[in-house]
Amino acid sequence: MQSLKDAIRTIADYPKPGIQFRDVTTLLGDARAFRQAVDAMVQPHAGAKIDKVAGIEARGFILGGAVAHQLSVGFVPVRKKGKLPHTTLSQSYELEYGVDEVEIHTDAVAPGETVLLVDDLIATGGTAEAAIRLLRQAGANVIGASFVVDLPDLGGARRVEALGVPCVSLVAYE
Ligand code: PRP
Ligand code: ADE
Repeated sequence: MQSLKDAIRTIADYPKPGIQFRDVTTLLGDARAFRQAVDAMVQPHAGAKIDKVAGIEARGFILGGAVAHQLSVGFVPVRKKGKLPHTTLSQSYELEYGVDEVEIHTDAVAPGETVLLVDDLIATGGTAEAAIRLLRQAGANVIGASFVVDLPDLGGARRVEALGVPCVSLVAYE
């Protein structure tokens, strides 16, 4: 997956001093890398029963939408607070660099539906954990979580797997 890593840009000290920001917009802008990333996110789930893909705002919408399209299943947006128009379930969480809150519509999944969670990157795992808690609250069975980038030093994948959700990521930055 070195070609994927080469397609990701690193911005030092964004959005705060000390953060090495892994910018996937360069990967998304590269047709070959974008296709390779989506294929690699879909491949481990070929043949699995997946009813929906949930993607986390904002970059998880782009990757999750593409993964859902490729799996021919519906898409659930996990949005930042105050953006969804219908009744919502909410969950707050801590980020590598702040605090935030995510929401889904109460009827975004039907009880018992199997859901694959997708985002561009997992760092502390706080965002993914909040999304998993929301999806479970709505009755979903979260069968996996897929990311382009893992920052293993921050422990996010371990945190998600401790919730009983297997994690797959394509590249890691130690
Ligand atoms: C980034 C990234 C993940 C989250 C990972 O999103 O896209 O969603 O951080 O961090 P965590 O594992 O520590 O929770 P960000 O909060 O920057 O939001 P954005 O995509 O709307 O810019
Ligand atoms: N979200 C949390 N930490 C991040 C990082 N280092 N790069 C990009 N997105 C992030």
